[in-house]
Amino acid sequence: MLARRAAIVAALFCGTTAAAQEMKSGSLPEQGASALERYVAEMWSGADADWKQRLQQDETQAQCSRFRNNPPDDIAEAIRKREAATIALPEDGNVLGRWQDGEKIAQNGRGGQFSDAPDTVRGGNCYACHEMAKSEASFGTLGPSLAEYGKLRGFSAEAAKETFAKIYNSQATLPCSSMPRFGVHGFLTAQQIKDVTAYLFDRESPVNK
Ligand code: HEC
Repeated sequence: MLARRAAIVAALFCGTTAAAQEMKSGSLPEQGASALERYVAEMWSGADADWKQRLQQDETQAQCSRFRNNPPDDIAEAIRKREAATIALPEDGNVLGRWQDGEKIAQNGRGGQFSDAPDTVRGGNCYACHEMAKSEASFGTLGPSLAEYGKLRGFSAEAAKETFAKIYNSQATLPCSSMPRFGVHGFLTAQQIKDVTAYLFDRESPVNK
């Protein structure tokens, strides 16, 4: 299966199959899209229903694709509303877990991938896109720096709540954000979101040192 997938990828990029020829021969997007669709169908043919489900865009994803992540105002507003409705704040109002656990979640990019065992604990992979603790050697820069995040906000309880909501569903504040909506499909649990919120807001967290 893996070897076959690799062969298909190689064929697409090296141009040895009809599909690849079709992609190269112009008159895109129709022909290119159909070659891509065939490639995806082939690649996912052995996947179980759970995985196949991931190929179905929800309404927000479809709208973001359609407008290339730059939706007109009315659609943006509809997305914001729809996504805000998915956010479940903790019932007891406490959005802060353990920063030590949050640090591990922020550093962990495994879980939920084809190559992971299904029971692999998922991470948030926050460092792939954000600077957080200044002591951390490497980080991505797709998202803004979150260094001293809680400190810069006076450790305010209100800001912590907004941050929990941001991590739960980034698109409730920025439609078509490229930050994953961690809470929506339970990718991270509410407890994990509380833990990373604490990593950003606890006075003792290396983020605020
Ligand atoms: C794929 C990249 C990506 C990942 C992974 C990611 N983020 Fe983000 N994040 C972004 C981008 C881009 C923005 C700015 C756009 C926006 O506000 O949605 C952002 C914004 C934020 C903000 C708001 C910053 C502000 O302006 O005040 C917070 C807080 C945040 N991210 C926390 C996290 C946490 C915690 C994690 C891990 C659980 C995480 N992010 C994972 C890309 C990412």
